[in-house]
Order: sequence, then C-alpha cells, then structure tokens
Amino acid sequence: MKGIILAGGHGTRLLPLTKITSKQLIPVYDQPMIFYPLQTLIEAGIKDILIIMAPEHAGHFLNLLGSGKAFGVTISYEIQDTPSGIAEAFLIGENFIGNDDVALILGDNIFEDDFSLVIKNFTEGASIFAKAVPDPERFGVVELDKDQQIISIEEKPQKPRSNLAQVGLYICDNSVIKKAKKVEPSARGELEIVDIIRAYLYEKKLAVSLVKGAWFDCGTFESLFEAGAYRRAKLECLSSD
Ligand code: DAU
Repeated sequence: MKGIILAGGHGTRLLPLTKITSKQLIPVYDQPMIFYPLQTLIEAGIKDILIIMAPEHAGHFLNLLGSGKAFGVTISYEIQDTPSGIAEAFLIGENFIGNDDVALILGDNIFEDDFSLVIKNFTEGASIFAKAVPDPERFGVVELDKDQQIISIEEKPQKPRSNLAQVGLYICDNSVIKKAKKVEPSARGELEIVDIIRAYLYEKKLAVSLVKGAWFDCGTFESLFEAGAYRRAKLECLSSD
C-alpha cells in the first residue's frame, strides 16, 4: 500500500496565516499540521509516501520533510498547479501508485485512530470512514442503513441525510486510477472525490467504518484551535501518567 498526502490548495479560509506558508505547515500546538496525517500513515505501516503540494510553498515542505529518512520512510513530491479537486491526487500520483493500492489522506485532517488493521486487511474496492458531527453540511455526508451499509454519499448537501461526515482518508485499490480518469469536473470545476467513492458504491465494493477517536478537519480557525487544544490536553495527560 502506498500513501498520498494531499497538501495543496490555497487555504483561503486561514488567511492571513496562509499568505506566508501553506495551510498544512501551520502549527497545530507543537507540530506542523502535516506531521499528523504523516504519522497516521506511518503508524498504519505505510513506508512509501507522496506529498502533493501547491507550487507557492513547495520548498517549505522539502525543508521540513526532506527524503523522509528522519521518519523512517521514503517521501516523494509532486506539484498540483491549481487546486482542481481531491480526485486529481490519483492522476498526479499515477506513476507513484504504479500497480499498488493507495491510501489518500488530506493534509489538514488529524486522526486519533490507528488504521493499521484496516490497511493490513484491505483486499479490494475502497474503504472510507465516517464520524458523527454537529455540522454535517460542511462535509461529504454518508447515509447508512440499519445494517451499517452505505446507501448514499453527498458532498456538502444543504439538507444532510445523516450527521455522519466522511473524513479525509480514502483507502482504494488500484482501479482508483481508472476511475479518476473518468471523473468530469463538477459545477464548481473540481474533480470530486465523491464521484470516485460513488463508482465503488455502484460496484458494491465500498466499505464504511466509523472513526472511534477524535478527528479534526483543520480548515477553519475554529477547528485549528480545537485540534491544538486537543493535542495539548493529550500531551499533558501523557506526561502526568
Ligand atoms: O475533511 C473532510 C472533508 O474534506 C470531506 O468530508 C469532504 O467530502 C471533502 O470534499 C473535503 O472537504 P473540504 O471542504 O475540507 O475540502 P477542501 O477543499 O478544504 O480540501 C481538503 C484538503 O485538500 C485541504 O487541505 C486542501 C487539499 N486540496 C483540496 C483540493 C480541492 C488540495 O490539495 N487540492 C485540491 O485540489
């Protein structure tokens, strides 16, 4: 399994912080934001990781992460010229993915859960994850039936069918590259990840599990602050044990 961290975009919701560097390099308490998704992939046993970044601050990522040796992994880099959608990660990463499966994680998503078992047991299709939130309209929203099987998935619906947000981790088999090539830009001009997930759903090859621990999408000042406070409390808790 290869890993991709999608760390591009303009981060406009976090201006003026993002005027001087990339959103994913902003501190979340004691670490740059990207350390968290990087640690999630490394803890899950992934050793070959591609960082996709915007051109403006690409040098900052190289300075921070280098070859990946310091983390015990190999890190490669690709540029996304413009933020044309999350699904574009599979096109930019086509050569890197090769014939392997791939776990794509968003560079502003912070997870407490350990995904090593899911990744170890992954065979085919796609595995996505959901978490109950008070504001599902901000996210991709997953609807499950009484047997926890997925019925629908919608990107930022005005009237969400559930309170389950799709979190920013997508584990996909190699057919994701073929699927990404078929995706057309949406009304907002992006290659939407939800179209890829739906393709797996139609093939009945989509698994959904609930995230048990804390999860943060650090795209806003509020969530950035909450993630930092959570990290601080966790470190305090660890040091008092
Ligand atoms: O955080 C989970 C949510 O992430 C999901 O529930 C949504 O289904 C998914 O679309 C996404 O929603 P966001 O509103 O958070 O997406 P955003 O445009 O903020 O992009 C998420 C991250 O991916 C962010 O760190 C920037 C990066 N990105 C995004 C796009 C569209 C790129 O690097 N390139 C892109 O083209």
